[in-house]
Order: sequence, then C-alpha cells, then structure tokens
Amino acid sequence: MKHYFFSALLITIACLRAGAVEIIHGPYLQNMEKDRVTIVWVTDQPTVGWVETAPDDGSVFYEVPRPRYFDAPTGVKETARIHSVTLTGLTPNTTYRYRVYAREVLEHKGNYVTYGHTKATSPYQVLTFRTPDPSGEKVNFAVVNDIHGDNEKLTDLIGQCDAAATDFFIFNGDMVSVSETEEQIFSGFMDKAVELFATAVPMYYARGNHETRGAMATHFKEYFSPGADHIYYTFRQGPVFFIMLDGGEDKPDTDIEYYDITDYDTYRRDEAAWLSEVVNSEEYRNAPYKVVICHMPPDIGWYGSCQVLEKFAPVLNEAKPDIMLCGHYHSHDIRKAGTAVKFPIIINDNKSVIKATADAAGLKFSITGRDGKETAHFEIKK
Ligand SMILES: [Fe+2]
Repeated sequence: MKHYFFSALLITIACLRAGAVEIIHGPYLQNMEKDRVTIVWVTDQPTVGWVETAPDDGSVFYEVPRPRYFDAPTGVKETARIHSVTLTGLTPNTTYRYRVYAREVLEHKGNYVTYGHTKATSPYQVLTFRTPDPSGEKVNFAVVNDIHGDNEKLTDLIGQCDAAATDFFIFNGDMVSVSETEEQIFSGFMDKAVELFATAVPMYYARGNHETRGAMATHFKEYFSPGADHIYYTFRQGPVFFIMLDGGEDKPDTDIEYYDITDYDTYRRDEAAWLSEVVNSEEYRNAPYKVVICHMPPDIGWYGSCQVLEKFAPVLNEAKPDIMLCGHYHSHDIRKAGTAVKFPIIINDNKSVIKATADAAGLKFSITGRDGKETAHFEIKK
C-alpha cells in the first residue's frame, strides 16, 4: 500500500512539473572531423538527452523512426543538464539534419526512474551540419578573439563573414573576462554564437587566459571540446592541419591573483610533450599547410607569453608551421619569422576578424574591422 502511495505521489509530481523542462542553450557543434562531430546542448533541469539524425534527402523528418544517439558515455544515460553526444561513422562531405532531445528525470531511485516532460528542437526548424571533405583543396575560416562578453562586437565581426560560405569559426580566447557562472558564458557570447552560426557551422575554441578564471573554469571542457582528450587538440580541414594550443594564464602560478588554485607550469610541460608527438605525426608532416592557434603569442615580458616562447616555440621552430594566429594584446601586429620564433605570427586585435582562405595558391589572411573595412592583409604563397 505504501509503495502505491509513493508511486502515485511521484506520478503526481511528474504531472505537476511536466512542461517545465527547457533546452536553454544550444545546440552547437564542436570538434567536427570528416566522419564525426560533437553536439552540445544545455537544459534547465536534469535530463537524459539524445540526438536524432536524418539524411538531407528531402524526406519528412517524421517519415521513419530516426536513429537515436544517446548521451551515455558509460552505457548509462547521463542524467545531467549539460549534454554532449559525439556522432561517429558519418559520411564525409555530407549534409545531415538533426534534432536534440531532453527528457526530464524527476527521480532515479533503485531500479526506478521517474520521468517528467520531454522537449526537443523542432523538426520544422531544420538544423543541419555538413561534414568536411577530406580531399577538399580549399578551406575558408574566420578567427575572433578577446571579445570579453561583448555580444554587439561579436555580432559585428561574425557579420563580416558569409557564415554559409565559412567552413568553421575559431574563438581564440578571452571570449569572456571571467567565468563565474554558466550564464556568463552563454549570455557573454555563446548564445549569440548559436544564434549567428553555431548550430550549423562548427566552432573550435582555443582557451585564453581569461577563461581560466572563476569557479566555472574547471568546467570549461563540459561545454567546449567535450569529445576531445584535452582542451588542446588538433584537427584537419581541407589542406590545413590545425594545432589548437592552450597557454594557460599570463602570470606565474604563484601570483596572488590565482589564489593558489592553478598549476599551469605542469600543464604546459605536459602539453609541450604532447605537441612534440603531434608535430612528428604523419598527419602533421603530410599536411600541405600547418596553422597554429594560440591565444598568447610567444614573447618576452609577461610570464605566460614567456612560457609559450620557452616551451612551445622550440618544438614549433623545428616543425616549421606556416603561421601562428594569436590575440591577447588587444592590438594588431604581424611579426615576421625571426631567430627565436622561426615562423610568422598574426596577432589579431580585439576589434577585428581574421578571414582566412587556404587553397592551392597559398594562405590568405584578411584582417577586417567591425565596419567591414580591411585593415591588413597577409599572404603566404605556395
Ligand atoms: Fe588574454
């Protein structure tokens, strides 16, 4: 009798709460490769989540049951607010339609799970993505950095790009000033990115020093690059092999500003060892172009940039990348290859977008302001 009472109570609670659950952020694309992509979305209540996909064949989404890909990395469906599902085995150079789902979990006790309402993105609001063409001889991409939570600036800069003709965007750090709450991340730039492009065009994120600050800093990977092994990672798009580096903070770990909560010296040491393996890989060596992304440029002066110079630059000097793209200084600079750093660097300011193209002729970088005017240009001819 007691069991029935509690069952009835749970069902009543479920009915009362039904309809409450919402998908509040996303979905957005992360870590797209030729045969895989990670999709991330966030709900306002604990939910189980899954993705449904359909080919872009003109069929009605409801024509047949669509395959489901659950957020269940351990075999048990995650009850969580932040969901990420990595779709694998995708066909390269192919457009897919997709929906994301969230089913509220009111209680999980023993073998029993009490579900609430289910929400999904609309099948009539067609979400699509296109996997890259691994034999593609051309790629277009754009880089912004140091947005510091200014949605109007982000809108203006992304607006200088034809998103449909841009294969992907790179956020090169300091997109927010501090990450105290999830709301700061999404209201600061990510909701706007979803609105502008990120449901359909992938964004690759290189962490800046400001993303390392605040109570949310250790949760960064739950939202960005959740399917990758590290926050630093590589990917190939068209003829370019990209290395996404993470320089950590700009001051020593002992600085009072970090309140004894950081260990970036060890982190950068391990990352440098990883970088050595990367540049000795066939994937790196065989790529027609190599582009390195790092928020802080290798430099003298501040400790963080000195660490990039000391730990990463020697490895890269041997590996001879075509260029490194940086931010951090809030002012534009193009540095030619020298003796301490043997590859060119574009340091993008905090009010421009780098629009880049790589094709058989070479690499082209157009630095464009919020008003659409090109303020600088750099080319590397093949
Ligand atoms: Fe910075």
